[in-house]
Amino acid sequence: MGTTATVLSISFTTVCVLGIAFVIYIARSTRNPAVAAPDHGALAEREKAWFGVVVVLLVSLLVATIFFTPYGRTASANAQVEKIEAIQFAWLIPSTPLQAGRQVEFKLTSADVNHSFAVYTMSGELLFEVQVMPGRTTDYVYTFKHAGTYRVLCLEYCGVGHAEMENQLTVTA
Ligand code: CUA
Repeated sequence: MGTTATVLSISFTTVCVLGIAFVIYIARSTRNPAVAAPDHGALAEREKAWFGVVVVLLVSLLVATIFFTPYGRTASANAQVEKIEAIQFAWLIPSTPLQAGRQVEFKLTSADVNHSFAVYTMSGELLFEVQVMPGRTTDYVYTFKHAGTYRVLCLEYCGVGHAEMENQLTVTA
């Protein structure tokens, strides 16, 4: 087993054990006659406080992540436009290579059903994924940092040949 698998297994087991212990604790506490009747007023106050905590957490998460939303990015004037069409079961990609360090404005559409355009490095790192739908064009702006060959896969099940939907993007320096 690799290091990551070991860490995941230990973490998963720990969370499971803690979860089971918590459920047992809750179940037992509801049957304990020695526990006095709950103070509903205090509980209502605590509920308000926890609601506030949840709201603050969610708003902080929203503010911290919303600026990283990749959709809606606008391409600069010198961006390379790359029109890609998905069909069952292939990616139709122009043969012209892309340039590293220069924005690529992907214009993605599908001829038939929903697909998902996923670009990976050759070592298997997912760089981005874009939903591709029939009847509309999805724009996505991305800048490749390095020259090389990138793998294109489909990440949405689209029929019997889904796993064969593979192609490549060539990026030059
Ligand atoms: Cu196209 Cu899966």
